[in-house]
Amino acid sequence: MSKTTITIIKCDVGSLAGHHTVPKPLLDIGNKRLNEAQEGGLINSHYVFHAGDDLELLMVHTGGENNPDIHKLAWNTFQEAAKKASSLKLYGAGQDLLKQAFSGNVRGMGPGVAEMEIEERGSDPIVVFAADKTEPGAFNYPLFRVFADPFNTAGLIIDPSMVGGFKFEVLDSIKNEKIVLKCPEEMYELIALIGTPSRNTVSRVWRANDDLICASTSTTRLALIAGKYVGKDDPVSIVRTQRGLPALGEVLVPFMHSYFVEGWMRGSHWGPLMPVGLKDSRCTVFDGPPRIVALGLQVVHGKIASDDEGAPLISDLFEDCAFDMARREAVEYAATLRRMGEFEPARLSSEIMEYTALPKLLEKLKGRFKPA
Ligand code: F6R
Ligand code: MG
Ligand code: MG
Repeated sequence: MSKTTITIIKCDVGSLAGHHTVPKPLLDIGNKRLNEAQEGGLINSHYVFHAGDDLELLMVHTGGENNPDIHKLAWNTFQEAAKKASSLKLYGAGQDLLKQAFSGNVRGMGPGVAEMEIEERGSDPIVVFAADKTEPGAFNYPLFRVFADPFNTAGLIIDPSMVGGFKFEVLDSIKNEKIVLKCPEEMYELIALIGTPSRNTVSRVWRANDDLICASTSTTRLALIAGKYVGKDDPVSIVRTQRGLPALGEVLVPFMHSYFVEGWMRGSHWGPLMPVGLKDSRCTVFDGPPRIVALGLQVVHGKIASDDEGAPLISDLFEDCAFDMARREAVEYAATLRRMGEFEPARLSSEIMEYTALPKLLEKLKGRFKPA
């Protein structure tokens, strides 16, 4: 049976008025290039959208993960959009295009990627998440809740196909090493690692019984590629749901409350993550608060299920009023944190601030310290 690949590749190519949104001319370039690729048969379906200032290219195809043609399509699309952004003098044009010479894969070049090759089940409901003004570790907490916490996911107790638990791949971005831990047996060790989201990222999740792939998350760390702060990574994630996997509702329930993530203004602050519909996907207050959108879709014979005109059927999941409470919490938490200004814990720890301009600014005090 042929396999289906779901690929999302994202990039900040420039924003209208600061770092808060992607204007229509850039989305139009995304749509134009992906339409052409679909007509030419490279991809079967696509959906172009934005999460804050990040242009998001969702593609469904049968070319497998790390497919050089798919990555090149995304790279060329971002280059063209960045050029357009430059011509309009949009802000931060080409921000995430950190390297110039493309060599077959966008990993390590600035754009973020999440991909998943699957053998389609009888029906395969998928959720695609995209966040702005935060980092890949922002998914650690909800992925843990969804795939390991029985207080979140009733199926871990009730569904016989889930009681074997789930396996988590965790990437240590400093050592560039990965490890697989199985829950429930290694739950404490897993939390010990992923409780440090700035360093350790859940990159993949599989069902333990049969190694069925369930989740895949981007792991790009822009500061580590560039060696300095160049904007937050703004991660994406693909999660499979239902029929022996957490239900759509179990995947979404961690977002009923806001929780804290690293990023926000200048990538230097803790901020409350705010689930929003696509229409509210723009980071305004203190360049935030960090926001996340969630798209629900079905894959069918290598495509996104679409209407009779061929338009993909996409459900804007966080548009629902059931997430109003999380949004209200996020605004309240944001206001509380902002009263603290640049005092920790509102500002990130000094270890993380190493990647910002702060150490250079403090350099000038160096000669003035006396032994105490
Ligand atoms: C965060 C982000 C923004 C900018 C901020 C300052 O990821 O992109 O918060 O860091 O707006 O931007 P510059 O230095 O470009 O004026
Ligand atoms: Mg930006
Ligand atoms: Mg961004």
